[in-house]
Amino acid sequence: RLEKTWLGIGITMLALFLAILGTMAFSMGMAPPSEHHHTVDPRKVAETAPFDRPGITQVGDKHYEAVMVAYAFGYEPEKLEVPAGSKIDFTMTSSDVVHGFEIVGTNINLMVLPGEVSHISHTFDQPGEYLILCNEYCGTGHEYMKTTIVVK
Ligand code: CUA
Repeated sequence: RLEKTWLGIGITMLALFLAILGTMAFSMGMAPPSEHHHTVDPRKVAETAPFDRPGITQVGDKHYEAVMVAYAFGYEPEKLEVPAGSKIDFTMTSSDVVHGFEIVGTNINLMVLPGEVSHISHTFDQPGEYLILCNEYCGTGHEYMKTTIVVK
């Protein structure tokens, strides 16, 4: 009798141990932290944070965060404005096809891919209007795809 009880306890503990191990492996496999923030379902960009609220937010002294969505044929938000000397951290994605993101007069020039989140930063020391252009052919409206950053 006593042997059966000990066997029962042993089996229960083994089952518990396997359950914990399984749960850990499962949760680790489900949410790899490195990938989690760098991909987005391009069909759900408008519902996925932070892209559900494209815009510019001040995060510090002359430090801004711009969340942008590239689409055929434009960018959201349509216009950005910051004081001279501001650093902008851009976080962006595309909600349809591959677009470009070139800030004329700077060394910023990258591809914005659907399903990928791109990060880039730039400090705008000189006041002026900075044109953002799409330099990847994306369809019939490609040449009209642009937006402006106003630095005052
Ligand atoms: Cu978007 Cu060309």
